[in-house]
Amino acid sequence: MNKYWQLPQDLLLGTATASLQIEGGDRNNNWYRFCEEGRIKDGTHCIIAADHWNRVEEDIALMKEMHQDTYRMSLEWSRIEQEAGVFNEEALEHYHDELSKLVAAGIRPCVTLHHFSHPLWLENAGGWIDQRVVASFVRYTAKVIQVFGGLVSDWVTINEPSVYLYEGYIEVNAPPAKSNIVSYMKGARNMIAAHIEAYKTIHQIRQSMGYTDTRVGVANHIRVFDPISTDIRDRMASGILDHVFHRIFLEGMIKGNFLFPIGLGGYPYGQGTFCDFLGINYYSRDRVAFTWNPANAFGKLTVEQGAPTSEMGWEIYPEGLYLVCARLYAKYPMPIFITENGICDATDEKRSQFLIDHLKQVIRLREEGISVERYYHWSLIDNFEWAEGLSRRFGLIHVDYETLQRTIRPSGRLYAQICKDRLVPGEAEFVSK
Ligand code: NOJ
Repeated sequence: MNKYWQLPQDLLLGTATASLQIEGGDRNNNWYRFCEEGRIKDGTHCIIAADHWNRVEEDIALMKEMHQDTYRMSLEWSRIEQEAGVFNEEALEHYHDELSKLVAAGIRPCVTLHHFSHPLWLENAGGWIDQRVVASFVRYTAKVIQVFGGLVSDWVTINEPSVYLYEGYIEVNAPPAKSNIVSYMKGARNMIAAHIEAYKTIHQIRQSMGYTDTRVGVANHIRVFDPISTDIRDRMASGILDHVFHRIFLEGMIKGNFLFPIGLGGYPYGQGTFCDFLGINYYSRDRVAFTWNPANAFGKLTVEQGAPTSEMGWEIYPEGLYLVCARLYAKYPMPIFITENGICDATDEKRSQFLIDHLKQVIRLREEGISVERYYHWSLIDNFEWAEGLSRRFGLIHVDYETLQRTIRPSGRLYAQICKDRLVPGEAEFVSK
């Protein structure tokens, strides 16, 4: 006998993707160049990815088959603004068509403006480290909202700002791959400023169009950082990491508060609330150890001994989803969108149980009055996992990269059933009632 847990009726369930990771076909961005430089670990390339650009209808049909309420996708800035200030009508039309089809299918879009990739003209001008990026991002945002404001009310300005900067300027696994902690801080400052300005712009434009339902937020990558021991140095390392990886972004983007070291605790863009929801991308936990090694400027991250892990080596820790949401909600009591949660699992052996265990934490949060409004599983479909390449598979749908054929995995069928019935079974093997 299988036991079921009831999901709240008003919780919207969906999946998430990002343009560069699924679309293919664009050569005008920082990640295309990174691939061309031979920097992808498994030797694959983003130029075709899942060919979603040419398969929009097919993929929306799959979402519909999987009973999705909502879909989080991103726009490729480098397609929309191929040169600084010059907008591409064809790209805008393509996305307009895609968004219209989603809406017509009854799937509510939540759209990200920047998800790790951007035009080469911007990258060549210093990317997010150069202060001019703030004005550029606002110009791009304004255009996008003028064109799609009538179709989309839910916006994510920037995806995982801390990960973007950490991978590009600390770990150097992502473009521009230039290790420099000062750049990390400059980038953080610019991303926060750009978010605040974009927040205001999106609200202003949609308001002038007559809409009152606009919701804008950030997809924050939030991890559980636990010190590896009770030693004061490990605890300090963990606290510092939490500060530079989470707190400066949350305080900056939600409250406009520029904490040390990106400011001195002040509100250069005014005091206010600059997020309408708290976007949380949750994957895993790290045990943090202090080290003198300058290569680990942010502490040494390790995995709990003996803990279950994914193919990325990340600990599978469902309780962490509860912990991060509960902790952040206590500080920032606003609706939570779980903007990403998922697992790298090519064999699909662990994904179903992963889904069940994390959705149960969502139910637990709701039972405690914590207003989780959305859950987006990462990802709808196998895609280009950045420096790891195409071999890392996060999809509920399998992609054969030779034929580009899509096949819903057993975990995808389970998720479809959950979305339809709003019941989470106790065990991975789904037995229909
Ligand atoms: C978060 C990122 O937003 C997404 O692009 C990435 O593929 C997943 N994490 C998995 O690593």
